[in-house]
Amino acid sequence: MSKVIVVGSGIAGLVAAVEAAKKHEVTLITKDVLAESNTHYAQGGIAAVVSSEDSVAEHVTDTLFAGADFCFRPAVEVLCAEGPARITDLVNFGVNFDRQNGNFALGLEAAHSHPRILHAGGDTTGADISNALVRAARSQLKTIFEHTFLIGISTSAGKVAGVEILTVDGRKLVEADQVILASGGAGQLYRHTTNPAVTTGDGVAAAFRAGALLADVEFYQFHPTALAVPGSYLISEAVRGEGAILVNQDGERFMKAIHPLAELAPRDVVARSIQTQMMAQGGQPVLLDATALGEKFLEERFPSITAATRKYGLNWAKQPIPVTPAAHYWMGGVATDIWGRTNIEGLYAVGEVACTGVHGANRLASNSLLESVVFAHRAVATLDEKWEIAASHANLENALQQIEIVENLAPKRDRQAAGEATTAGQVVDRVELQTLMWDNVGLARTGNQLSATQKALADWHGAEESGRLFTDWEDANLLLLAGAVTSAALAREESRGGHFRLDYPQTRPELAKSIIVRKA
Ligand code: SIN
Repeated sequence: MSKVIVVGSGIAGLVAAVEAAKKHEVTLITKDVLAESNTHYAQGGIAAVVSSEDSVAEHVTDTLFAGADFCFRPAVEVLCAEGPARITDLVNFGVNFDRQNGNFALGLEAAHSHPRILHAGGDTTGADISNALVRAARSQLKTIFEHTFLIGISTSAGKVAGVEILTVDGRKLVEADQVILASGGAGQLYRHTTNPAVTTGDGVAAAFRAGALLADVEFYQFHPTALAVPGSYLISEAVRGEGAILVNQDGERFMKAIHPLAELAPRDVVARSIQTQMMAQGGQPVLLDATALGEKFLEERFPSITAATRKYGLNWAKQPIPVTPAAHYWMGGVATDIWGRTNIEGLYAVGEVACTGVHGANRLASNSLLESVVFAHRAVATLDEKWEIAASHANLENALQQIEIVENLAPKRDRQAAGEATTAGQVVDRVELQTLMWDNVGLARTGNQLSATQKALADWHGAEESGRLFTDWEDANLLLLAGAVTSAALAREESRGGHFRLDYPQTRPELAKSIIVRKA
């Protein structure tokens, strides 16, 4: 029995913690309360092959196609093949997926060749999964630290030795033999995001500082349809899967002329087409027309979206609603093999914090909850085993490029005192950073914008480390990760999936390799 720390309480962290607790002494750490995670807000659902009309081979093909010739095939095969067993696990945890005539009711989302999206409570899938897993965690784990911030990962002789945390009582080191990072993504890098406030990339930043390799960080997915209101409330792709269409301010259905799959084309295509329409209509949002689906159907199938639109004074059964893209999912992260192992012995990463290569340059809708549960399970299966990196998407030998970046965490005056050449700078302002990232490192990028962003980021630094609060750490982490995304986006001189360069609009097959980012 070894000591295992799991960081994060979305689906990946909760599954990892509960599974690991069967054989190990587990401590679960989370920044907020257990239920506050990106998982909790997932609407559409979880993709898996559970119907005899579908096949694992087709799920693999769809995932590879959406990933824009950039997925790591062995990881995709694992995901799709192990998906059905992990759905059974979730049912056993008490997740009550919606059913029709005794079978799972399956939804359709973009770029899936079959309806294969399981959902619960209509559009409260994430909340239903999270509630079931939180119940399991509370009953099966002895040690849960809520409101606990991950500051760093400590290592000794190249191996994980524990984590450094911050709580109301101050900083403290917690020892561990193995650490499973499951702390999610970094939607808060952007001014408009469907992600909750907790998504500040803390796990990716801590792993980076400890020497972990990051991969594919330039690939960020923008969801095409967030309600065009403050807070960017997600309008699930499942709504388009059920037949809703997108129209511009003149009422023209524009996606049909752009892609054979129209509104169900891969997400990057739909999101950029919406942005083009918005630019042509003076920044006005486009409209999602779900009126043909009928009031009763919308209320029953999408109860929480119906309630949210009402809150904003909209009746989507009667009128099209305004929608706009928003940052949604980070394909890049801490590079792992197909067992969640990173380049630091004893450090695992699973879920959105990780880059297994399963999503390539653009994630297939509803594959992320599945990735989390499949790879959390696999990571736990190898705890205590000899540390041997298996097949990996982002191995250094195959990398397109390695970028080394300096973290500008320390106040500039300390760095100047240490002899570093640096201008005075100022403490990072989160809203300014998010706006800069949205404007310059968003759906469409240019070399000039990316270079200007690098310069602007270099003029900021984190707050004084000794007195940092949670939010100061979050800001420092966002600053670090914004630098990583921007540098990798500048280095990738092509367009592919979630990374679109206006100055390099073509996909260049010879560049189908990962850019690795590491600490200088
Ligand atoms: C959605 O419901 O549209 C989001 C699903 C996902 O991002 O996989």
